[in-house]
Amino acid sequence: MCSVNVPSMDTEETIPIDTAIFGLGRMGKVHLHNLASTFRVNIKWIVDDISVHDDIRTLLQKYRLEHVTRVASLEEADTVHSDTSVKAVFVCTPTIQHGPVIKKALTAGKHVFCEKPIATSAETIKSCYAVAKEANRSLFCGFNK
Ligand SMILES: NC(=O)c1ccc[n+]([C@@H]2O[C@H](COP(=O)([O-])OP(=O)(O)OC[C@H]3O[C@@H](n4cnc5c(N)ncnc54)[C@H](O)[C@@H]3O)[C@@H](O)[C@H]2O)c1
Repeated sequence: MCSVNVPSMDTEETIPIDTAIFGLGRMGKVHLHNLASTFRVNIKWIVDDISVHDDIRTLLQKYRLEHVTRVASLEEADTVHSDTSVKAVFVCTPTIQHGPVIKKALTAGKHVFCEKPIATSAETIKSCYAVAKEANRSLFCGFNK
């Protein structure tokens, strides 16, 4: 009789990671689309200025996330940072907002994906990576194109 090693469905790789998206503008919607297409993440939070985004609920319905994803206003962002179930955040805010959002997320123990560029000055970029090193978390800057 031969035995076959079948991977367990309960390994860490199969458990979706709770995530949050900061900023649901042009690039945030690209990431929402991509993240909604993978079983590896659970989009637990979206943070943005709800008053200027009357399409957020429609988008959540489109991706069948209306019972999964919570929407937080900019003023409620700290609630998301302090949600210990959230392991990674996707920063898609305007560049000027990247530094503060990245540093808060890293300090709160989350891994961070940030849209390019991390910041507009080398000094701020270096300080963000210094916070990542101190927090022992990943800070990944990505391009879509
Ligand atoms: N990778 C690429 O190819 C590519 C292309 C375009 C833009 N970008 C980058 O992506 C980032 C976003 O650009 P965009 O065109 O999507 O901008 P956008 O203005 O369309 O969207 C930004 C969103 O962030 C929200 N926001 C502002 N401050 C926030 C905060 N503190 N917390 C949460 N949300 C906040 C705004 O309300 C808005 O909805 C920029 O850094 C830009 O340089 C990357």
